[in-house]
Amino acid sequence: MLKKLVIMTLPFLSITATAETQPPQNQYNQFYSYYQDKAKEIVNKMTLEEKIGQMTLVSISQIKNEKEGLNAIEKYNIGAILADGNDMPATPSLSDWQALSRIISSHTASTQHIPLLLGTDAVHGNQHVANAVIFPHNIGLGATHDTQLIHQIAAWTAYDVKLSGFNWAFAPTVAVVHDFRWGRTYESFGSNPNWIQNFAREYVLGAQNIDNTKHILRGVLTSTKHFMADGNTDNGIDEGNVTTTNNEQLRNENYPGYIGAFSAGTGSVMISYSSINHIPLSVNKFYLDSYLFKKDTLDPHFDGFTVSDYAAISKAARGKPFHETLANSINAGMDMIMVGQGDLYYINNDPALIDHSASLSAFQAAILYDVNLSDQDPYKISQQRIDEAVTHILQVKLAMGLFNSQQPKLIPPQGDENKIALQAAEESLVLLKNDQKGNTPAIPITAKIKHILLLSPPDYSLYDDIGTQCGGWTIKWQGMRGNKYTDENASSILTGLKKLAPANVYINANEPLLIDEYTSSNTIAIALLAEPPYTEFMGDVDNDDNGFYEINHNQLENGLFMQFDDFTLTKIKRLKEKNIPIITVLISGRPMIINHLLRSGNDSDAPLNISDAFIAAWLPGTKGGEAIANAIFGNYHFRNSETANTLPFPWPKDIKQVKTGRLVCDSIRKDSDPVPMYECGYGLAT
Ligand code: GLC
Repeated sequence: MLKKLVIMTLPFLSITATAETQPPQNQYNQFYSYYQDKAKEIVNKMTLEEKIGQMTLVSISQIKNEKEGLNAIEKYNIGAILADGNDMPATPSLSDWQALSRIISSHTASTQHIPLLLGTDAVHGNQHVANAVIFPHNIGLGATHDTQLIHQIAAWTAYDVKLSGFNWAFAPTVAVVHDFRWGRTYESFGSNPNWIQNFAREYVLGAQNIDNTKHILRGVLTSTKHFMADGNTDNGIDEGNVTTTNNEQLRNENYPGYIGAFSAGTGSVMISYSSINHIPLSVNKFYLDSYLFKKDTLDPHFDGFTVSDYAAISKAARGKPFHETLANSINAGMDMIMVGQGDLYYINNDPALIDHSASLSAFQAAILYDVNLSDQDPYKISQQRIDEAVTHILQVKLAMGLFNSQQPKLIPPQGDENKIALQAAEESLVLLKNDQKGNTPAIPITAKIKHILLLSPPDYSLYDDIGTQCGGWTIKWQGMRGNKYTDENASSILTGLKKLAPANVYINANEPLLIDEYTSSNTIAIALLAEPPYTEFMGDVDNDDNGFYEINHNQLENGLFMQFDDFTLTKIKRLKEKNIPIITVLISGRPMIINHLLRSGNDSDAPLNISDAFIAAWLPGTKGGEAIANAIFGNYHFRNSETANTLPFPWPKDIKQVKTGRLVCDSIRKDSDPVPMYECGYGLAT
């Protein structure tokens, strides 16, 4: 008998294996369906309302908006709760979060007492807790190329999430970014799909900490996202559209991160807001079927449940009645719906639905409406489909051990979390330029200096701003400038330098004058540039999408162009007249245009050109200051190896290259694609 033809989903190979090759049975292909019988046993005891409740994921603030408050969990049989970007207790301390999650978890839904999933965007540490260790965002982890370090970071993040009473992290993002105008570039590990496959695998293994012999997921549930090609949208528009005529190329460039995550047993996949050829992924049966559900043709394959993004149904509806898009999404394979306030208001426009309460009752009534339609109705959701979705969800909850009365003691991973965060911050830095002064490179600093001049925009003390080092998704959805909610473990550049510099070295921050005593033998200048924190579409720039881009135009007015303000530039020029070395550090969520000026002017004044040394620091997190100081003073040496300090993305020569939407690593570059200023993998050593 001809053996079943299996499509080997190895990137860059043809995706059809010959009939005689049998794929290695991936060790997690059945990890969740192992619990199928037990899950079905529970499903068979549940009412339809209880099943619909298990498919409902809702935010803390939404639940509190319900007139029943947290008792709405029982009333609507809610299966999962999320802390959305701005949800937080009165103060976001660990103990306050623990108290809140304890209260929430005490509300178990349905007569089957099915435990809740509690999800949060722990995308670079347990970011919504004060004094948390914040690791570099994924763009920085991509620059470390250090898969074992990424594994450790995921394990510590999982520990911190569980310590706060949550059990689900909406991570990792496995986007492959082609256009840096996208506000979510920093959430990506880079644009080499092979690297992303490896990073995704290690992240999921570290975070979920599965014991395959005991069939238990001991860490936190991951949610690999956003399926699929979220980083490929036209003009880098967040939640935008991917225009493609070459499905194989799209798959080869965007699917490897999912292969990595499936091979590690990720328990959920979050479906992207974006569209492919104008069909939103939330209702895109072709892509969901082809790359998530065809288990007999994909190896490794996905065995968990799918979850929509926040208010994705109303975003995908585009004027159509809510219940129609809802049915299309669930029938396309969406198991759990992350209900947003926008959904509840949008339901009011649906003439078929009579519940206009803008509450969870309206949402659940919408599913019920579709279930009760006649079998011939195109928007009918069958009971079998509902049972299938709830079975997927319960399989994962069973694999997580949530039903076990005795929860194991929470044990921290090995090592020191802050030391790991410092190592990650150091390995994430990329040295783009390091000119010689005589035959001495600008860094590391070896001269016996007396003065360190810290230069930053007059109204933005970047040398002492841990919040800017951390970027978006930190405490609040959009992140926050300044040092609030950080402790003595966190370091700004100023504190990092103070820790290193000998007592007789004077650190002058934004020194107004240049005194004669400053000379090239006793003074260095560290010039700081940064993007302010932003998240999602609020970070979109220059992409003609009037919807979101205009909202945030003022904060990112220069788009991808990074340049010194006139005040700082004047000082830099005067320092250069004295031959004082200028070391520039860029804090950003993406590669920027650093060799040209936005307005007319002499490009020799552009940051890269005027500096003696230039460090791309990305968003290095709470240990970023110490890492930067260590790198400048040689306590840490740039390695430019396969495992540290090299670009995860190409670096653009100019904005035209960015606007091609094909500025990608040479591993997937086409002849027609631009050749960047610096390639993926570039970095100088010291
Ligand atoms: C957001 C993001 C997604 C996040 C979710 C919950 O809109 O797209 O990455 O996990 O909502 O906060």
